[in-house]
Amino acid sequence: MKRYGRRTSGIESKARTIMALLEINDLFAFYGMAESLHGVSLAVAEGGIIGLIGPNGAGKSTLMDSIMGLTRTRGSIKLDGQELTTKNTAQIVRLNVGYAPERAHLFPFMTVHDNLLIGAYTARGKLERNLERVMDLFPILQTRRYQETGTLSGGERQMVSLGRALMTTPRIMLVDEPAIGLAPKVCGDIAAALRRLNQESGLTIVITEQNVNFAMSLASRLYVLETGRIRMSGTVEELKADPETKRAYFGQ
Ligand SMILES: Nc1ncnc2c1ncn2[C@@H]1O[C@H](COP(=O)(O)OP(=O)(O)O)[C@@H](O)[C@H]1O
Ligand SMILES: [Mg+2]
Repeated sequence: MKRYGRRTSGIESKARTIMALLEINDLFAFYGMAESLHGVSLAVAEGGIIGLIGPNGAGKSTLMDSIMGLTRTRGSIKLDGQELTTKNTAQIVRLNVGYAPERAHLFPFMTVHDNLLIGAYTARGKLERNLERVMDLFPILQTRRYQETGTLSGGERQMVSLGRALMTTPRIMLVDEPAIGLAPKVCGDIAAALRRLNQESGLTIVITEQNVNFAMSLASRLYVLETGRIRMSGTVEELKADPETKRAYFGQ
C-alpha cells in the first residue's frame, strides 16, 4: 500500500478513497541506445500534486516525455489502471493527459488564440468552454488574444503553454519547469493558477522544477530525481530530515 503526503485543505483531503491516478513502476527510458531513466517508480493520487525535483540532466523531462509515449521505455505506466506504454501519444492525449513541455513549442508567428486552438484537437466539442476557462484563469491572455505569440513576455508564453494543455480537458497535467526564467511575481501567478486548477477542478498535477521553493509551494509530496533514479521521496519535512537532501535542495 502506498502512502501519500497529507494536506489540510484542498481536494486531496476530500478524496473518498485515496488511490493512485498515475502509477509508474520500474520505468526505464531510452534515447537510442542511451538509457536515461533507470527503474523509476512513483505514484500520484487522484486530485494530488506531486513535485519532481532534481538538477539539470536528471531525467525530469525524459520522465514526462515517457508518460506521453515520446521515448522508448521498459516498465509500467498506468493511468487509472490502464497501461500507457503500449499506447501512442495521440491515444494518451485522448485519455486526458495534458502536457505543458519545458520551453513549450509554441508557434511564435501565430496568435495566442490559434496556439490555444492547436491544443483543442482532441476536445473540439468543448472548445468554447475550454477557451473561456483559459481566459478566466489567465485574463491577460484575453488582452493578448490576437497578438502574435512571439511578442509575448516569458510569463505570458508560459500561460499560453499551460492554456494549450488545458484545451485537451486533462484530468492529469504534466507541467515541466513552469517557473524557469520567470520573475518571482510571475512565478507566483503561475503557481496560483495551478493551485486553483487543482482545488477548483480537482486536476491532478505532476510538476517538475529545479526551483524547489516553487515545487514546495504546490506539491504535497516531492520526489528527488538524480541521474535517472529516484533518490528519495516524501513530504517537504521528510526531505529536510535527510541532511544530504537538505544541503542540496534547501540550502546550508
Ligand atoms: N532527445 C534526446 N536524445 C538523447 N539524449 C537525451 C535527449 N533528451 C535528453 N537526453 C539525455 O537524457 C538525460 C536526461 O535529460 P532530461 O530528461 O532532459 O533532464 P532534465 O529534464 O532533468 O534536465 C540527460 O543525460 C540528457 O542528455
Ligand atoms: Mg528538463
